[in-house]
Amino acid sequence: MNVGERHYRTIWLSDDEHSVEIIDQRWLPHAFRIEKIGTVAGIATAIRDMWVRGAPLIGVTAAYGVAIQMQDDPSDEALDTVWETLHKTRPTAINLRWALDEMRRFLKPLAPAERAEAAYRRAAEIADEDVGLNRAIGENGLAIIKKIAAKKKPGETVNILTHCNAGWLATVDYGTATAPIYLATEAGIPVHVYVDETRPRNQGAQLTAWEMAGHGVPHTLIVDNAGGHLMQHGDIDMVIVGTDRTTANGDVCNKIGTYLKALAAADNDVPFYVALPSPTIDWTVADGLKEIPIEERSGDEVSLVWGKTSDGKVAQVRVSPDATPAANPAFDVTPARLVTGLITERGVAKASREGLKAMFPERG
Ligand code: MRU
Repeated sequence: MNVGERHYRTIWLSDDEHSVEIIDQRWLPHAFRIEKIGTVAGIATAIRDMWVRGAPLIGVTAAYGVAIQMQDDPSDEALDTVWETLHKTRPTAINLRWALDEMRRFLKPLAPAERAEAAYRRAAEIADEDVGLNRAIGENGLAIIKKIAAKKKPGETVNILTHCNAGWLATVDYGTATAPIYLATEAGIPVHVYVDETRPRNQGAQLTAWEMAGHGVPHTLIVDNAGGHLMQHGDIDMVIVGTDRTTANGDVCNKIGTYLKALAAADNDVPFYVALPSPTIDWTVADGLKEIPIEERSGDEVSLVWGKTSDGKVAQVRVSPDATPAANPAFDVTPARLVTGLITERGVAKASREGLKAMFPERG
């Protein structure tokens, strides 16, 4: 998407062709910084410490990490080691494992001397595929927004609530939950987005709000606890969120707090949609609550909040007593029964084993 006049993806191959450049998301919305990364250790840090984040982008970054490793050492052993090293960086988003598996499957049959070039090529293809998947998700989600708009008076706004950042910053481009929003805006459908701030790391306040502002989408930032109240008052027409891992049964794992939004949506008859590309489906897992590993991040993310001070410096402030411990589970699981539909690149699936099988019969 554009930043100012220039089109950016979130990750691209450097001109030197053996490192990648990324938008360093730790500094947004206060500063737009690009980082160049040319080592596997650097890729691991960027994923673990969330310079890049969002399930699809984590996967693509890891794919480039494999390519960087193949350039240094294309042996079978190095391929297995880089798989292990990068797989450990973040446990919940399944796109990471998907991308690492795909790179290894693709590279293993090749002679070591062929691997580096092939790995960069495949990583670039995975990045391009992500853009195509998101564009298709956008079209399928747009059809839902159009239906909701058609039930309103002409010109009346469709109010959409979203949680976390499942925007273009979380993918290579377009985003998942945001793709239908961008297409609706382009199509002239009046949409307005309620952006959950998404504590503790504030991906909504820092990233989704920055995206919406940058692309002229009317939006309002709300605290995480406001969504239920707005739904009770008829202020939300639909919820669209992304996901880090959706099970074969349609359970949806996403940023902590998503489950509470789904409960409130169900109680208020507000449709609750999840936008996802097929690499986010974990076909090996049925029960999301029991089987998905939930990342536990540092309590410092809860106790210390980043922001811009009045003299323009980006700094952290403590919001709790020094001695108070904090727990920080980063994701939760929304049971399939609370999900109205899964917006995939192929269409909108029922959040159930049957629904997903019908959409992806080759996985059945
Ligand atoms: O911890 P994060 O910022 O990586 O979490 C991101 C999310 O939870 C997104 O909603 C999810 O990855 C979907 S991104 C298209």
